[in-house]
Amino acid sequence: MNNFTPVKIAGFGYSVPETVITNDDLTKLYETSDEWIYTRTGIKERRVVSGNETAIDLGLDAAKKAIEKAGIDVNDIDCIIGAASAPPQLYPTLSATIGAKLGIKDTIPAFDMTAACTGLIYAMQVARGFIQSDIYKTVLIIAADNNSKITDWTDRGTSILFGDGAGAMVMCASDDGVDDILSIKISANGAIGNLIRTGVPSQCCPLVQPADEVASGKIIMDGKEVYKFAVTTVPKYVEECIELSGLSAEEIDYLIPHQANQRIIESIQKRLKYSDDKVVSNIKYYGNTSAASIPIALCEGVEKGKIKLGSTAVLCGFGAGMTWGGAVIRLREGIC
Ligand code: COA
Repeated sequence: MNNFTPVKIAGFGYSVPETVITNDDLTKLYETSDEWIYTRTGIKERRVVSGNETAIDLGLDAAKKAIEKAGIDVNDIDCIIGAASAPPQLYPTLSATIGAKLGIKDTIPAFDMTAACTGLIYAMQVARGFIQSDIYKTVLIIAADNNSKITDWTDRGTSILFGDGAGAMVMCASDDGVDDILSIKISANGAIGNLIRTGVPSQCCPLVQPADEVASGKIIMDGKEVYKFAVTTVPKYVEECIELSGLSAEEIDYLIPHQANQRIIESIQKRLKYSDDKVVSNIKYYGNTSAASIPIALCEGVEKGKIKLGSTAVLCGFGAGMTWGGAVIRLREGIC
């Protein structure tokens, strides 16, 4: 037993843009086919922002839903964490901007952290630390990305994968003594960070020698190596997270993985020996929405009746950094 304050996962929300881009639509941009994309990735379509819409609009919508599900007042929130790898602006931060739009009092901390597609799990670990140690009681996490704004739409190896979306989550000090986080683990290896990278377009001071190369601001990825990394590292890591939770794999009701590639999801499923009804996948309709993919899959899974609440789930994420992480959590009734 420790003296940490137990953590309640109180609410989730998600939001995706209206605009759908199908695999067939992509054939207008380069030589590809629905069959090529679907068989290698499990993706049929993705959503993208259009016009003035950005991840901030999606994040705001998701945050409002999570707050409503959590049954809290916005002014109960005492910290906001943005988990954004592709926000529309570096600053002001996504978290502070959305906080202001929610009408939250202006003195609470709001900051963005980047762990790319593992962002939600990293943010959960940070929020958990704050709550356990009584620094903050109610933390709003917003994972919102407009990947389409940093996608190289001439590169058929990457632009088939990504989509836009947002997920939000409210975590707070538990009022009934039950801790909803049974285990959580996060990791990174910068030595293989170049496998997925996006440089910020920049310049040198005009009075000095210019840099050899200027970043395009677009995603550059070694798809084959990322795939190999994911199928070798992540399934074993998920098992370690489960072990840490004190539950067995069979005792956990659902696997809710980051939605990067259906074949990667299946490699984790195989390792855990889970039947299809325990595995949540909606990559077919949204592609890879970075840190938002887990809450989108969770909320949609509940909406569609695939996930019954009052259950447990193992979450796992991986992505640029390289970063990866996993968590075993309780899914209380009414959280989404
Ligand atoms: N349509 C048709 N052909 C395509 C194509 C497309 N969209 N994209 C690539 N190709 C071609 C390539 O040009 C190559 O042709 P070549 O052999 O004549 O050179 C061939 O198909 C194989 O390309 P390759 O990149 O080796 O394909 P792949 O089997 O590795 O599949 C991914 C590509 C991106 C689907 C796969 O590597 C993947 O999913 N990786 C993981 C990426 C990921 O999940 N990233 C996010 C992590 S958070």
